[in-house]
Amino acid sequence: MRVGILTGGGDCPGLNAVIRAAVLAGTQRHGMSFVGFLDGWRGVLDGDVVALDEERVRPLLAVGGTVLGSSRTNPLAGGAAQGVQRVRAQLAALGVDALLVIGGEDTLGVATALHEAGVPVVGAPKTIDDDLSATDATFGFDTAVQTAVEACDRLVTTGASHHRAMVVEVMGRHAGWIALHTGMAAGAHATLLPEEAVDLDAVADVVRSVLARGGAPLLVVSEGAPVLGEQAVKDAPVDAFGHVQLGGAGEQLERELQRRVPGLSSRVTVLGHLLRGGTPSAADRVLATRFGLSAVEALAAGRLGTMAALRGVDVVQVPLAEATGVLRTVPPARRSETAGLRW
Ligand code: F6P
Repeated sequence: MRVGILTGGGDCPGLNAVIRAAVLAGTQRHGMSFVGFLDGWRGVLDGDVVALDEERVRPLLAVGGTVLGSSRTNPLAGGAAQGVQRVRAQLAALGVDALLVIGGEDTLGVATALHEAGVPVVGAPKTIDDDLSATDATFGFDTAVQTAVEACDRLVTTGASHHRAMVVEVMGRHAGWIALHTGMAAGAHATLLPEEAVDLDAVADVVRSVLARGGAPLLVVSEGAPVLGEQAVKDAPVDAFGHVQLGGAGEQLERELQRRVPGLSSRVTVLGHLLRGGTPSAADRVLATRFGLSAVEALAAGRLGTMAALRGVDVVQVPLAEATGVLRTVPPARRSETAGLRW
């Protein structure tokens, strides 16, 4: 079996570890051969492929990003039937029997449509946002949180030296998992999530009370938090999947706090794509490797239209359609864990 691998959507640490595990296990255990499509679905539409063999993938375990490149190209954007036909034709022309698609809800949404149209495909979930409902965790998230916490630990010491409020904006789009875990692990005094209305007066009270006891407030804000009642959006075009580019929540928060706390000294740091770059954590290497192994086993067993997913401590294969059904956002129980506590 000749398998084409692609990585789509925003990159995240661990993508190369999936590719490595899939190619090594597929080659050694099942006699498969592999090619990589460059830049996600763009490579499929253009027939842009590179060879992927054991020698190529062996060094990739700890390498950040994706050696295949990524894009937000949507092959179904010009019409689903036409898009499916183009993909099918390219796979036939290149002699590719099946696809291993590594992506988030958009990329896996395309994979689901292809599966429903009879194209042999399996998936592996990735996103630093950890917002896919079909899996208990996605690789990339652990690394992103670790990076954010390290940044906060640094910002806390300089904030304390200057008696300053430090506002830290993190990624996550519509899900506040990165902000929630960063806030908890870094000891933030307030954490603002996309899932909750923002009470600016309450945040200002927290800032005043931390300053009054001689501390330096640390405020973690998710890029999707509705600081002014709705998400802060950049003046940029939407991508091929209809997503707007978020940005500006941290600055909005700082401005509102300045208005409410006279004389406040504050600084904003937007961590942004720093959270997506660099080498994956050990936990993400393990999860990514297990997803790669599982996807190859699904292909070998003919369990097409499935995606590797973590359920508890087990990696299982679930229907692809489940992956893209509902966004996994932070539930009220997790949001209220620290409510009312003064850190
Ligand atoms: O979905 C992953 C993510 O990193 C989000 O947290 C963020 O909003 C978005 O991608 C940024 O995407 P881009 O790479 O297009 O700036």
